[in-house]
Amino acid sequence: VSLNAHLFSARDFLRPAMAGAPARSAQDKRGFVNLSSNELVHEGVAAIVAAELARLDGGDVTRYPFCAAFEAEVAGWLGLDSDSLMLTPGSDAAYKMLLCCFSHGSGAVVTQAPNYEQLALYASMLGLAVRGVRYRRDEGFTPEMFSPALDSSPTTVWVSNPNGPSGWKMPLPDVARLAASCAERGHILVVDEAYADFAECSHLPLLRAHDNVVLIKSFSKGWAMAGARLAWLAASPAMIRYLRVWNAHNPISGLTIALARRLLERESEFIRARRELVAARNWLAADFPRVIPGSAALPSEANFVNLDVGSERRAATVGSALRSSGILVRVMGPETALGGCVRVTSAQLPVLEKVLAIARNALGGERPGRGTE
Ligand SMILES: Cc1ncc(COP(=O)(O)O)c(C=O)c1O
Repeated sequence: VSLNAHLFSARDFLRPAMAGAPARSAQDKRGFVNLSSNELVHEGVAAIVAAELARLDGGDVTRYPFCAAFEAEVAGWLGLDSDSLMLTPGSDAAYKMLLCCFSHGSGAVVTQAPNYEQLALYASMLGLAVRGVRYRRDEGFTPEMFSPALDSSPTTVWVSNPNGPSGWKMPLPDVARLAASCAERGHILVVDEAYADFAECSHLPLLRAHDNVVLIKSFSKGWAMAGARLAWLAASPAMIRYLRVWNAHNPISGLTIALARRLLERESEFIRARRELVAARNWLAADFPRVIPGSAALPSEANFVNLDVGSERRAATVGSALRSSGILVRVMGPETALGGCVRVTSAQLPVLEKVLAIARNALGGERPGRGTE
């Protein structure tokens, strides 16, 4: 018998859906002003985080964390009972858990297109098809647009509101109507409110009337904790009881909990910083089309704005000019329904003034010449 016959072969273990998929790794953005990931970019907040980090205790590293105490504090802060909330190490982990828990029977999920990009990846890992409800430049997303996609066997329906990456925000009554249509057809509605702090809105009132709704809220955006990996998930007590079985909260870091606890005490400073970033975003959205002929800013209530410069070629030109000056933005591809846009994370005004000046120089005075590029 040849020895080879006994050797381990990875091939035997591959999941067919993932076998040909590219290996994933994040881009190295160190050394750049990163306006491509929608982190909270604000010098005052960076100083708060650094100061609070310096005050953490060694025990937060040497001991395993006790997550339940902090879950109860977060629930109390949100006005929820603690049996309606759990924490996860970033919303990423919540997405994976919900897909595993609730979507496996149906073979598909329904989502806004575009939506948080990891959703499609995690769905494909599980062999789930993605049924997209496409963003429209004229009306964004409406509950009616979802109706055809809801005629499928019960599954999870995913929206981010405000939506990442478009920035579009559906009014709360519309989300409530969508929740009701989902309930009629047996679907669970997952609302990701990662960017809600910048719109100063909350979907928590939905939980009172709709027990098919799950809310996810990252601490990455409004709380400047992208590197710490933390999110809360809120739903009916029955749903939370089931989700706790999956133990998704177990990998949350004790350092993260200790830091979040301190930052929540400084909420008013975060609110001030977010308002400053929203005002800066509004300034860019108003001035960009004035300064750059033929461009337009798409409506956004998040901490970023999509600037439509008229063609993918022009968007790429702006993206590379900014990169050469040490600033990263996201050049949106056509698959996102936002082709021709550069998406810029809001930052303090001097940074955005620089973005505008570089974009204007890169495009010169030329008009886009729509349809010919
Ligand atoms: C809509 C949306 N949800 C969630 C996230 C990421 O959340 P987390 O850092 O908690 O995994 C992003 C990040 O870009 C996002 O756009």
